[in-house]
Amino acid sequence: MESLIMRCTVFNVLFVLLTCLNLCFSARLNPDIIIRSRDGSQQPATPSLCAIMVQIYEYPCEEHVVTTPDGFQLPIHHIPHGISGSTGSSQATVVLQHGLAQGAENFMLNGPSESLAFILADAGFDVWVGNTRTTMWSPGNVELSPNTQSYWNWSFDQLISYDLPTMLQYVYSTTGNKIHYIGHSQGSLIALGALSQDTSLTDLFAASVLLSPVAYLNNSQSIFAKDAADLYLDKLFDLAGIQEFNPLQGIGVKLLDLVCASANFACRAFWAPSTYLNYSRVAYYMQYEPQPTSTINIRHYAQMVRSGLLQKFDYGTTGNRLQYSQENPPIYDVSKIPSQVSLLLAYGGKDALADVTDVQKLIQNLNCQVQTLFMPQYGHSDFILGTKANEDVYQPIIKYLRANSL
Ligand SMILES: *[C@@H]1O[C@H](CO)[C@@H](O)[C@H](O)[C@H]1NC(C)=O
Ligand SMILES: *[C@@H]1O[C@H](CO)[C@@H](O)[C@H](O)[C@H]1NC(C)=O
Ligand SMILES: *[C@@H]1O[C@H](CO)[C@@H](O)[C@H](O)[C@H]1NC(C)=O
Repeated sequence: MESLIMRCTVFNVLFVLLTCLNLCFSARLNPDIIIRSRDGSQQPATPSLCAIMVQIYEYPCEEHVVTTPDGFQLPIHHIPHGISGSTGSSQATVVLQHGLAQGAENFMLNGPSESLAFILADAGFDVWVGNTRTTMWSPGNVELSPNTQSYWNWSFDQLISYDLPTMLQYVYSTTGNKIHYIGHSQGSLIALGALSQDTSLTDLFAASVLLSPVAYLNNSQSIFAKDAADLYLDKLFDLAGIQEFNPLQGIGVKLLDLVCASANFACRAFWAPSTYLNYSRVAYYMQYEPQPTSTINIRHYAQMVRSGLLQKFDYGTTGNRLQYSQENPPIYDVSKIPSQVSLLLAYGGKDALADVTDVQKLIQNLNCQVQTLFMPQYGHSDFILGTKANEDVYQPIIKYLRANSL
């Protein structure tokens, strides 16, 4: 019995990480997929996403790299126009930002006719696709090696304070345009955090879109997320000295294999929230996702589940006094997002992570201009990988952006 409980807890940790993707089933089929080595000394060359995923369809693609104040190099993939279009000064600029354990590829995985990056380029937008630190496309850090603790010493606080502003400032100064930002899941969370924390960023944002917006995880229906948080498994991982949270390597592969081989019920339950995923493509998705994140980032999500709050990382009373000069971590107060910010929030009735109750609480707390698009049948990943997302979500997004262009 005890070993069963132990095994269940193992499932739960992984499912927190995999919530964005629901890729458990394919992991069972492909437990050995290893994308690249993160073993400092023998890192292979960073693969080119432009070549693998964009240029093969004959779309133009440039890779830009920006460096955060703490040294992380972030690639931004630029698709300046669609297959037949050309670059023009009248083009509106869009930045796409992926979710937890994903990278820029997430907006391209379904190819030109179904993926947001291509669809926006073909609709005449100037498309930039960002990557937060430590995705597989990232060259790394100018000083830190991936096999140091410091390399993994970050949570979404650093994405809010460093990664997002660095990327947006770069695109803004390169194009001279305000940015239509489109973030999915963690990509929505970091925009909400950044806009609450630093209202001067408002100047960079044109009308923007949050898909599966995550600000509160208080009612998350993901029993996996809840259990993992309740059991403080994230802290156990941390204490065990595992700084990189990568379900595709080392202990991660073994755990995932164990999980899915011995717990089909759990895998099925986890898949259920996705209504429009094309399951025959999952093995392909798994070549690129999930991507590594930090254990501390996972801890930060678990903290959200436990507290029901959107706040900075909790270092404990003493640590918080040192970090923040107060006992509790500061709150990201979304009600402070300035009223001139325009947001379209698209959320799903079957989203186990961005639960309807939590999204509605977010909507209530916002004082900016909010429109909503509620998709009763949509699960978390359907907004990005769902086969009907173009007609259901992307066309309404394009209408919204055009109606709210500057
Ligand atoms: C991690 O970051 C915290 C907070 O900034 C700092 O106190 C700590 O020394 C860092 N640890 C490592 C190993 O870099
Ligand atoms: C699912 O994906 C496969 C492989 O890309 C494709 O052949 C099939 O038409 C897709 N099915 C749907 C319903 O999109
Ligand atoms: C979390 O949800 C519960 C039940 O829905 C509610 O009683 C509680 O006040 C919420 N906590 C926060 C911090 O919103």
